[in-house]
Amino acid sequence: MTSTNDIRATFLDYFAANGHQIVPSSSLVPRNDPTLLFTNAGMVQFKNVFTGQETRPYARATTAQKVVRAGGKHNDLDNVGYTARHHTFFEMMGNFSFGDYFKPEAIEFAWNLITRNFGLPAEKLLVTVYAEDEDAAALWRKIAGLPDQRIIRIGTSDNFWRMGDTGPCGPCSEIFYDHGPDVPGGPPGSPDEDGDRFVEIWNLVFMQFFEDPPGVRSPLPRPSIDTGMGLERFAAIMQGKRDNYDTDTMRALILASAEVTGQDPDGPFRASHRVVADHLRSTSFLIADGVLPSKDGRGYVLRRIMRRAMRHLHMMGTKETVFHRLVPALVRQMGAAYPELVQAEALIRETMRGEEERFKAMLERGLTLLSDETAKLGDGQKLPGDVAFKLYDTFGFPLDLTQDALRGGSHEVDVAGFDAAMQVQRERARAAWSGSGDSATETVWFEARDTFGATEFLGYATEQADAEIQAIVSKGQSVTDAPAGTEVALLLNQTPFYGESGGQVGDTGLITAPGLRIAVTDTQKRLGDLLVHSGTVIEGTVRVGQAVTATVDHERRSAIRAHHSATHLLHEALRRRLGAHVTQKGSLNAPDRLRFDISQPRPLTPEEIAEVEAEVNARIRENSAVTTRPMSQEEAVAQGAMALFGEKYGDEVRVVFMGPAEENRPAWSIELCGGTHVNRTGDIGLFRITSESGVSAGIRRIEAVTGKTAETASIATEQRLAQVAAMLRVSAAEAPERLAVILEERKVMERQISDLQRKLASGGDGGASTETINGIGFIARNVGDLPARELKPLADSLRQQVGSGVVALVSIADGKGSVVVSVTADLTERFDAVELVRAASAAMGGKGGGGRRDMAQAGGPDVSQADAALDAVRKSLT
Ligand code: ALA
Repeated sequence: MTSTNDIRATFLDYFAANGHQIVPSSSLVPRNDPTLLFTNAGMVQFKNVFTGQETRPYARATTAQKVVRAGGKHNDLDNVGYTARHHTFFEMMGNFSFGDYFKPEAIEFAWNLITRNFGLPAEKLLVTVYAEDEDAAALWRKIAGLPDQRIIRIGTSDNFWRMGDTGPCGPCSEIFYDHGPDVPGGPPGSPDEDGDRFVEIWNLVFMQFFEDPPGVRSPLPRPSIDTGMGLERFAAIMQGKRDNYDTDTMRALILASAEVTGQDPDGPFRASHRVVADHLRSTSFLIADGVLPSKDGRGYVLRRIMRRAMRHLHMMGTKETVFHRLVPALVRQMGAAYPELVQAEALIRETMRGEEERFKAMLERGLTLLSDETAKLGDGQKLPGDVAFKLYDTFGFPLDLTQDALRGGSHEVDVAGFDAAMQVQRERARAAWSGSGDSATETVWFEARDTFGATEFLGYATEQADAEIQAIVSKGQSVTDAPAGTEVALLLNQTPFYGESGGQVGDTGLITAPGLRIAVTDTQKRLGDLLVHSGTVIEGTVRVGQAVTATVDHERRSAIRAHHSATHLLHEALRRRLGAHVTQKGSLNAPDRLRFDISQPRPLTPEEIAEVEAEVNARIRENSAVTTRPMSQEEAVAQGAMALFGEKYGDEVRVVFMGPAEENRPAWSIELCGGTHVNRTGDIGLFRITSESGVSAGIRRIEAVTGKTAETASIATEQRLAQVAAMLRVSAAEAPERLAVILEERKVMERQISDLQRKLASGGDGGASTETINGIGFIARNVGDLPARELKPLADSLRQQVGSGVVALVSIADGKGSVVVSVTADLTERFDAVELVRAASAAMGGKGGGGRRDMAQAGGPDVSQADAALDAVRKSLT
């Protein structure tokens, strides 16, 4: 039997041998298409190549593409488990020509592969063509030798393939396999075409047009080819099965489900096993592509899928959480073809287990409520909308889970009643919102939130994404368009722009489309989960519904990332150095700096700062991977995560791990955080603390820089040192020593200067001249600009000289007069130095003065009266 893995490889190898590049599947989250919830065909990643907007180094490609059809326009969720060919996840094999080959080669490639390489008998095959496409019909006749009755013309949209309402499109031709007359069903185009006899296996699209706006088609630059073969249904045919779930891969997953539940794979729970097998695939692949269960958008579709699977597992009697135990079986089947599955295995298992743990208790209680409520209903009566809403709101039952639970019974959900109950709750939430700020704008955002739900944030994985403009707000009003020059706030359905939160500043960048350019200067979060881009329309007019490309300023975001990751390392380094009392009190992560406030009773010593800085740099040099995982709050705490604020019990949180594992600890730093981070600690580059200061009692603030900013700051410091060294005429290394010598010399010189000044003041070598007044010695001297602090020592030495008498000194320094009077001990009964100095000070327009009876000092502003001051003392002695 040819395995599914062999079929995939044969397909890819065949096209590779025919000049096609094997391109890996793109993510299930389309980055280059704003109109799609999930990647729904192989051509999605090539959309812009078809239109000529993007070029690739190859003109032929082949892929095995992951596809999810759940939620959104293509929604197969409700049917999965109950039919032979519905999946939420499947693989689409395809070959593509970008303006290279066209119809003849496409038909020939397909026919040869199916009939020669895969060996399907030609007589079991038939094809359809678009009614107007005579070319295609003629080619099938010529290349495949098919008779006319097996080339069926279909005039409807069935044979005109479109990716969506807009985008590349063209007529198509489908290849069908005939299971034979034993199986009920008619050929395509017949009334009973939906039977199982004729199964479509391959769709060849002759890409010729681009549609946008809907209904308006223009030719593509060059005709191209896009094909899609559902791997599961083709494998079924190759393996002689009529049901996709009987193929090797799906069967292995069903057996795994049978094993963990202990239920017969083909018994009464046959449908449940199929649900589990299918949902295991979509769940795992979505998580591997970065989608996590959440309340809105893609995350909510994932949650619906997961909970639907969990209900079926529960029905099969499992008491423990078992969904995650099926992951290894899937990895065994598909890990080789999709390495991302292997890489994300731990994340997938943890996410599943967390979701199942949270949901299990509620599931049990919700199902009890549901059966109590249905017991009250008469036959055929609908389950009231408010009951379905209560199940949704209180027990976490997505509507389709309730519908699935009622399947096969005689009741349906009153969906209109459910919607009405939902609406009432929204109104209540709005009324309860006591927002600050401008209420008109608030209302606008509320309406947007009701209409569109949360903005999908793509910025953990990418810095550029296509998106659709959902709302434009200008001057507080919702508008449908805004011309160049307008300041606008924009809502997109998805965005790589980070909205300011958790201390990390909002992203800036560009929103563009042909002829349109908007400079985004800030991104903010509104109402918790709307990401609002503020900026100015630079060129063109922006319109609601328009498809745009949103591009984050890469350099700035990289610098923000480095600062944010450094903050985590700083936090941990501080805790380890100072103690567990250190907790975060506030933080800022900007492109050029970080600021981190901590609870800490005293300033950090220079040694502590140096040690913390060195520790962070050591972690940076270690260059270990930075990883992020979602988990329940309790689990995060159990792993040693810090900083639990604002989260509600049971909430899922994002946990960031940095640095190597330690005993009892999966990483050096573990922190709850919704921010964006570097891939490896080495990306931070360099970390320098620039200041440490007090903010308020018990709170210290550390400011630091990383990467380029740290480099620039270090270079500036070095340049200043080089300048100093040049001035000192030594090398930078010798500068400190040289400077110490100079400072010492200076001290010596200063001392010499004041000695000399004193000598000069005291009248030079010959000593000061002494007057005799009233029988006592008196030395009066105006000592010019001798600094005031030198007056007392000078007065002391002159007092020795006078023996018995009074010394009065006055100097003019720094624009003011100072005076000192000294009285020898034998005369202090007769003269008081304080009184004498006051008299002198008064002469210079000063007041007061202080000291003791033997030595006093005062000052005065009138520097012209220095001699008068001395005279005033002289006079007091007479
Ligand atoms: N894009 C085409 C399809 O999905 C091949 O059917």
